[in-house]
Amino acid sequence: MMKFLAILCLVSLVFFISDVGAKKDGLKRDYYKKTSCPQAEEVVAKMMKDIVTDDFRVAPRILRMHFHDCFVRGCEGSILLNSTSTDKAEKEARPNNPSLKGFDVIDRIKAELEKQCPKVVSCADILAYAARESVKLTGKCRAYAVRGGRKDGLISREIEALQNLPPPSANVSTLIKSFASKGLSLQEMVTLSGGHSIGRSFCAAILGRHNNFNNTGKPDPTLNSDLAAKLRKQCVALTDLVDMDTITPNTLDNKYYRGLLENKGLFTSDAALLTNKETLKEVKSNDFLPSAYWENKFVKAMIKMGEIDVLTGHEGQIREKCYVVNK
Ligand code: HEM
Ligand SMILES: *[C@@H]1O[C@H](CO)[C@@H](O)[C@H](O)[C@H]1NC(C)=O
Ligand SMILES: *[C@@H]1O[C@H](CO)[C@@H](O)[C@H](O)[C@H]1NC(C)=O
Ligand SMILES: *[C@@H]1O[C@H](CO)[C@@H](O)[C@H](O)[C@H]1NC(C)=O
Repeated sequence: MMKFLAILCLVSLVFFISDVGAKKDGLKRDYYKKTSCPQAEEVVAKMMKDIVTDDFRVAPRILRMHFHDCFVRGCEGSILLNSTSTDKAEKEARPNNPSLKGFDVIDRIKAELEKQCPKVVSCADILAYAARESVKLTGKCRAYAVRGGRKDGLISREIEALQNLPPPSANVSTLIKSFASKGLSLQEMVTLSGGHSIGRSFCAAILGRHNNFNNTGKPDPTLNSDLAAKLRKQCVALTDLVDMDTITPNTLDNKYYRGLLENKGLFTSDAALLTNKETLKEVKSNDFLPSAYWENKFVKAMIKMGEIDVLTGHEGQIREKCYVVNK
């Protein structure tokens, strides 16, 4: 059965990828194969495998980083830039600082690629490939093609991260609007929310859920009371960490949706998916169908998210260091 599902997963992806094969935006499959850095994707894959084997937490961090990159100015590596004298960078913004980690990992991969083939592989592509490896290393889909050819942007602004990244307090209409503004459907929004099936959150992000909901001194009535009690024990300091998926915290799978249906979604934004007829229908079907069906949808939605507002061709640049634009 598992084998069958894995094959189904792959077969449907091949069809999907040939579907969007049109080169309208300049991205291509196997993009680096025709450059002086044909090994680019393999280098990212090999390094990510070693790094994640050594420290599992890197996989969820990089998956989240890719989402935060793509939702702000598109997938052009602006999340990686440091502040300048004129702009406080995205990475300094509340949704990213201090919770978003893993910048050092991208810097290490970039340094290795610059050593092997200087000035060829963009930071935006490295992040997109590394996020793909995170999915592969934590989920059950073997591999999937990610088109390359993204160029790196020149600007990163804190305010744009605040404007474009939905907060954990978001209600369902805000979530639907936020994703729609990036060309992603309600279905894709629910599918991508399954990214929360791995990783951990600072207790600071769940304030008002496990304790003192809306200043009532009680937990949020929409949060499972056993989980609320457990979270109150785990969260001694705001900087303590809790699993986002209480059922299979280290596996990218559809158990996130089972958790939601048991009122165990961590954030208000997770629980919000149960408050709208359409999103609830998606949650239920993602829970009901075998995980491979959801993973297949997840991968398609990841590919789409990974192509939001990309820079290609002569746009942007290929940064030599991911945290600073070229001199
Ligand atoms: C739907 C809107 C979303 C909201 C409001 C949201 C919010 C959050 C928040 C508040 C955290 C915890 C940060 C902290 O430690 O304080 C988090 C973690 C995470 N998010 Fe999201 N997120 C959303 C969508 C996504 C999507 C689309 C993905 C990827 C496909 C994703 C992947 C992750 C991952 C993997 C983590 C764990 C990171 C780690 O372990 O360090 N999220 N998210
Ligand atoms: C860039 O920012 C990171 C943290 O985001 C920091 O660790 C690093 O030291 C900065 N690099 C430079 C060269 O300023
Ligand atoms: C959802 O949140 C937004 C922004 O906070 C608010 O303007 C809107 O009224 C809320 N919608 C519902 C249905 O609660
Ligand atoms: C929060 O509390 C305020 C004031 O007591 C009340 O008007 C509001 O409806 C409450 N909000 C929710 C979501 O319960």
